Amino acid sequence: MTDRETTAAERRAEELRRALNDANYWYYVRDQPRIPDAEYDVMMRELKEIERAHPELARPDSPTLRVGAEPADQFEKVRHLAPMLSLDNAFDPEELRGWQRRNARIAAEVEDAGYVAELKIDGAAVALLYEDGVLVRGATRGNGLIGEGVTANLRTIGAIPLRLRDEGEVPIPPRMEVRGEVYMTLSGFERLNERRAAEGLPTFANPRNATAGSLRQLDPRVTAGRPLHFYGFQIQLDPELDTTLPVRNQADVLELLAAWGIPVNPHRRLCDSLEEVLAYAEQAEQDRARLDYEIDGVVVKVAPVALWEELGVVGEREPRWAIAYKFAPDLATTRLLHIRVNVGRTGAINPYAVLEPVEIGGAMVKLATLHNFEDIARKDLRENDMVLVKRAGDVIPQVVAPLTEERTDQERYEPPTECPACRTPLEHPPDEVMVYCPNTSCPGRIYWGIVHFVSRGAMDIRGLGERTVQQLLDRGQVRDFADLYDLEESDLLGLEGFAEISARKLVQSIDEARARPFSRLLFALGIRHVGANAAKLIARAFGGVDGLLAASRDDIAAIHGIGDTTADALAAFLAEPRNITLLDRLRAAGVNVVEPVERAERQPFAGLTFVVTGTLPSLSRKDAKTFIERLGGRVTGSVSGSTDYVVLGEEPGSKAERARELGVPTLSEDELRRLAEERDATASDIEAEAREDSTA
Ligand code: IVH
Repeated sequence: MTDRETTAAERRAEELRRALNDANYWYYVRDQPRIPDAEYDVMMRELKEIERAHPELARPDSPTLRVGAEPADQFEKVRHLAPMLSLDNAFDPEELRGWQRRNARIAAEVEDAGYVAELKIDGAAVALLYEDGVLVRGATRGNGLIGEGVTANLRTIGAIPLRLRDEGEVPIPPRMEVRGEVYMTLSGFERLNERRAAEGLPTFANPRNATAGSLRQLDPRVTAGRPLHFYGFQIQLDPELDTTLPVRNQADVLELLAAWGIPVNPHRRLCDSLEEVLAYAEQAEQDRARLDYEIDGVVVKVAPVALWEELGVVGEREPRWAIAYKFAPDLATTRLLHIRVNVGRTGAINPYAVLEPVEIGGAMVKLATLHNFEDIARKDLRENDMVLVKRAGDVIPQVVAPLTEERTDQERYEPPTECPACRTPLEHPPDEVMVYCPNTSCPGRIYWGIVHFVSRGAMDIRGLGERTVQQLLDRGQVRDFADLYDLEESDLLGLEGFAEISARKLVQSIDEARARPFSRLLFALGIRHVGANAAKLIARAFGGVDGLLAASRDDIAAIHGIGDTTADALAAFLAEPRNITLLDRLRAAGVNVVEPVERAERQPFAGLTFVVTGTLPSLSRKDAKTFIERLGGRVTGSVSGSTDYVVLGEEPGSKAERARELGVPTLSEDELRRLAEERDATASDIEAEAREDSTA
């Protein structure tokens, strides 16, 4: 490698790092994606390639670290720049007023100094060490003085900047900790648990546990797959250096963090009085169910920084300038009347609790999830026990523990050995916590399968609710997905809640759903491990059912973004003659089995056929294929008269000759990229669309 080549690679790597970090900022912090995902992926791959060829160019702020570094043996112990303090709690307005009175005795100014009220997110506190604006270390709180270095895991969190933005007026201090909360979104938490349950793994009890568990993974690649986010709220300068910051109050701190590219929670309020704080807290408590994360209160901070030192710290642990004003607990006790089970569409047996109805946080709770039988055994839950129930935000209520001191003669719970729906003996695969009904024609499985088939993200058949599905099954009018398409108005008239108009409407919406893209159908089939995203990738790669049926397991696994587990599950599904018959019947019923090509402006290569040959400088053969396909092009294996372009790498062999013979134009990797840019819609269109999508 010559020096000149190294310098070129170095320059390009720096350019890519900047572009990728910038894309991340717009995506995670500003919530306004600026570039298409495909472009991000291609740049990321190029950077990875450069860093592989020039290991000396690896940097601690390289976005390639976001996908997760190699596993560690253990975490290093890390001493924080200064102790990470905890907060005293106030549980009612009087306690909060007491806090203000005590503070006023130490510093009379607090009376009219103002407060900043922030949401108290229920996640895991972390300290991010930035040196000259680069994230060099990140640690959990630990005991407050010493935490665990989980840097590689924190780097996988897209919302955490690997390098701070240095564009504002305030220069970035040479060494400081940004402190804040890592948390898991509720929607992400539920998806994670669903996936784990489907894979037979134990589910997490709540987003906080899931967050803490994700941060303590020895393999950062696992953390990279977890839906984690971050909000910063505090700056701790290095006490060894005498840096200062031009901040007068906590609101300035948050603004400064935001200017450096750290996400800060937009929900907060600068309050003049404690009464205003109380009004804000009341509002926040009412609105909490609308947030996509768990909060357990409001943190009230004396606004002026000048008062913080004056107020001091209690017992070296809790600062007087801040307090946690906690919401009413989302826990209640009630009686667990029955432990029941139902069978899901994958055959997994899901136990749930029927409770004596109880009010928690403004809602009546009658049912709660029990996760799996191991969980029931571990908690030793018994029918008729008094139990502690928790409900947080939109999360399904959970039974936390039995109140054993109130137990009388309740007997230990015995899990069922037969399927509740079809009496088939249950199976318990080794290494899985879930228990399954193996009968594929089990009516319980079919019921949930159809409920899934018609649901919003799948075939989206409006007007076909769970009750109707149950009735259609009970009457034998529907036995599988394909039967839905034979339904006529007269079949529906006899059902509960149906009259002429509603029957006509349902038949109409079943008819409309015939036209859904093939990816929706593929997802609707409920094949294990084939989620909505995987279905889209697969449908796009093969174009429709014919392409899929002609594909081998390895063809499926070769799709970028599809793993072995998914490929195995889909191949197993396609190997069953019954399933092929089902697909044939769906097609015969007029259900669309073709994946429409994406909208033209995002498909600069639509209608073009490419051949890729030789070794490209940064893209592997598979990457180049994915890139071309995502932009709407087709990639074939041999050069012919219908080939539009041949992408040439080093040592291309006979295909280059054939291209020359036939007069097919050739492209280098860079020229391929340029062609995409030339043919793509202007960047401003894409940006405008992205904005629309994110505000829709
Ligand atoms: S301030 C000295 N602000 O609550 C001030 N804490 O015991 C330290 N938390 O685990 C904390 N949201 O990580 C502060 N907006 C917020 C917060 C917050 C969540 C967590 C914090 C710590 C606990 C406080």
